[in-house]
Amino acid sequence: MIIQPRTRGFICLTAHPEGAAQHIKDQIEYVKSKGKIADGPKKVLVIGASTGFGIASRISAAFGSDAATIGVFFEKPATEGKLGTAGWYNTAAFEKEAHAAGLYAKSINGDAFSDDIKKQTIDLIKQDLGQVDLIVYSLASPRRTHPKTGVQYASVLKPIDQAFTNKTVDFHTGVVTDITIQPVENQEDIDNTVAVMGGEDWKFWIEDLKAAGVLAEGVKTVAYSYIGPELTYPIYRNGTIGRAKDNLEATVPTLNELLKDLNGVSYVSVNKALVTQSSSAIPVVPLYISLLYKVMKAKGIHEGTIEQMQRLFAERLYNGSDLQLDEKGRIRVDDLEMREDVQKEVAALWEQATTENLEEISDIAGYRNDFFQLFGFNFDEIDYEKDTNEVVPVPSIG
Ligand code: NAD
Ligand code: NA
Repeated sequence: MIIQPRTRGFICLTAHPEGAAQHIKDQIEYVKSKGKIADGPKKVLVIGASTGFGIASRISAAFGSDAATIGVFFEKPATEGKLGTAGWYNTAAFEKEAHAAGLYAKSINGDAFSDDIKKQTIDLIKQDLGQVDLIVYSLASPRRTHPKTGVQYASVLKPIDQAFTNKTVDFHTGVVTDITIQPVENQEDIDNTVAVMGGEDWKFWIEDLKAAGVLAEGVKTVAYSYIGPELTYPIYRNGTIGRAKDNLEATVPTLNELLKDLNGVSYVSVNKALVTQSSSAIPVVPLYISLLYKVMKAKGIHEGTIEQMQRLFAERLYNGSDLQLDEKGRIRVDDLEMREDVQKEVAALWEQATTENLEEISDIAGYRNDFFQLFGFNFDEIDYEKDTNEVVPVPSIG
């Protein structure tokens, strides 16, 4: 099949298996180039393991400290005449590379919010690894079916107290317009978003893993959060998704209590704003990211998901000395994004940004490139005119 990008808004409907494999190889090479992470994780469960920060975490663990990894995700498999999703192809490539390097890697494709997938995961840990010493929680989903009640929740991306008007960009066309996003209509919008993206499911995972006896002494677990600049507060940190992140962060003390007798610990890591399938769906944020990229690249401090996760593992979670946390107890790998000089320059560019000057003052080209690379496109190494086999199995799934 000849596979070309086909987009609908911020969604890409196609994915390229060889391009995805190239993306994975590049990330593996980066982690290898940084050297081994001394005393890094050895047996790792990644929940949300197929794209974005999750696959970068899996690669950082596997190729940074030779970890055995189990990955859980929700992706569409590749079948004859039907493309798989990017995360499917990412995982197919990851497992192939991991196995070639002699590393254990198996995956489970299904709804991580369900009791059934939790049980399947626990059974696999028991069968193959005995216990895990790190659990990465990197889910991003627009909906969740609650495993105990069957209630279906849909998250919303809305401000809370009042309508929010600001600039936004269509990153395909580069057209900058004003957008007004109406606030939540009721508490339910907030509660639903917290039910999907808050900490309850993370807690359910850790409770179930602990009850099954599959958590190792000294176990760590980490989930990912975001803060960002004031200009996105109304839609992000002070909006519905921010309430969910507050809830996720507030789960840490509960998990620490639960893990105490194992000398275990839980963390939230606040990560940098990056182009992923999830972040491209948030209004206003893509324009901010394209300005941020411009400023951070000019300063030589830009990082992608793999640089972020490698640094989280090597310099934060497993750096062997005292971990620096912020006043709310969070790990900060958004430190470079939030640097005062960076934020000042981004804020100044934000004021100026128009359709006419966008290509010049922002890195919208870099944004676009990253977006297409999420789906395996825009890699120089790949000939996109060439016929390629769309049926690429994930070795452990088939
Ligand atoms: P992503 O969309 O790339 O990854 C989401 C992952 O969750 C995928 O592996 C997907 O398969 C999996 N998933 C979704 N629903 C699932 C389900 N029901 N069952 C099993 N797996 C499911 O998103 P991302 O940007 O890497 O986000 C991961 C985390 O990082 C989120 O908590 C997000 O808020 C956080 N974060 C993102 C950014 C950013 O700028 N992208 C910044 C800071 C923090
Ligand atoms: Na992820």
